[in-house]
Amino acid sequence: MRLRNIPGSREAIAASEYVVHEDVMREKKGRWSEVFGNDHPLYLEIGMGKGRFITELARLCPDRNYVGIEKYSSVLLRALEKRGENAQLTNLLFLRMEAEELTDVFGEGEVAGIYLNFSDPWPKDRHAKRRLPSREFLARYDRVLAPEGCVEFKTDNRALFEFALAEAEAAGWTVRQCTFDLHHDAQMMRGNIMTEYEERFSSQGNPICKVVLSRRHGEGRSA
Ligand SMILES: C[S@@+](CC[C@H](N)C(=O)[O-])C[C@H]1O[C@@H](n2cnc3c(N)ncnc32)[C@H](O)[C@@H]1O
Repeated sequence: MRLRNIPGSREAIAASEYVVHEDVMREKKGRWSEVFGNDHPLYLEIGMGKGRFITELARLCPDRNYVGIEKYSSVLLRALEKRGENAQLTNLLFLRMEAEELTDVFGEGEVAGIYLNFSDPWPKDRHAKRRLPSREFLARYDRVLAPEGCVEFKTDNRALFEFALAEAEAAGWTVRQCTFDLHHDAQMMRGNIMTEYEERFSSQGNPICKVVLSRRHGEGRSA
């Protein structure tokens, strides 16, 4: 998702109390509990877009901390509007950053779980490394996730989903749960929170795929 550039978006983000800024985010690597002021488990959504999913999750789970990551200012600004409507939440912060920098910002084992929702497909083979469920990104997730931490990935893009399953297998991850039609899978649908893209694509009749991945139980690092 890339929205038209919005004049003043960078300034609005710089002034927002809900955004952790570049210098601070790196300094807090391994010490995110200080940022939230508690030891609650930390969950990330990478490529959160306009932020509906993570805002709703933060509202439903006040005993967990959430960080939404988005690379475009214009998109983050939209998430901030929603954040402002939920000013009572103390467990949700945003970062404007490239996910490639994840290991500069989060310490080893510091993250309890990662959500990837409707990630950009990057259809050309030469761009495969940029896909958020690629083996290159799985290696980054492996470093920041706690031993029992999971990556949850949803998409309507069947080719990207099959790529994700192949990459996970190649990188030694375990499939905990998997469906090619989430909205007709009563068990995996329980507690599902719709993202903006999920609502749009499922209303067009596209089946939604979902997988939950973890490292092999007790093995910790996969590579
Ligand atoms: C297709 S949109 C999906 C938005 C939202 N997750 C949803 O399901 O409605 C993907 C979003 O991920 C962001 N994104 C893609 N690659 C990223 C990266 N490497 N780092 C941070 N954000 C990224 C894009 O800017 C875009 O807003």
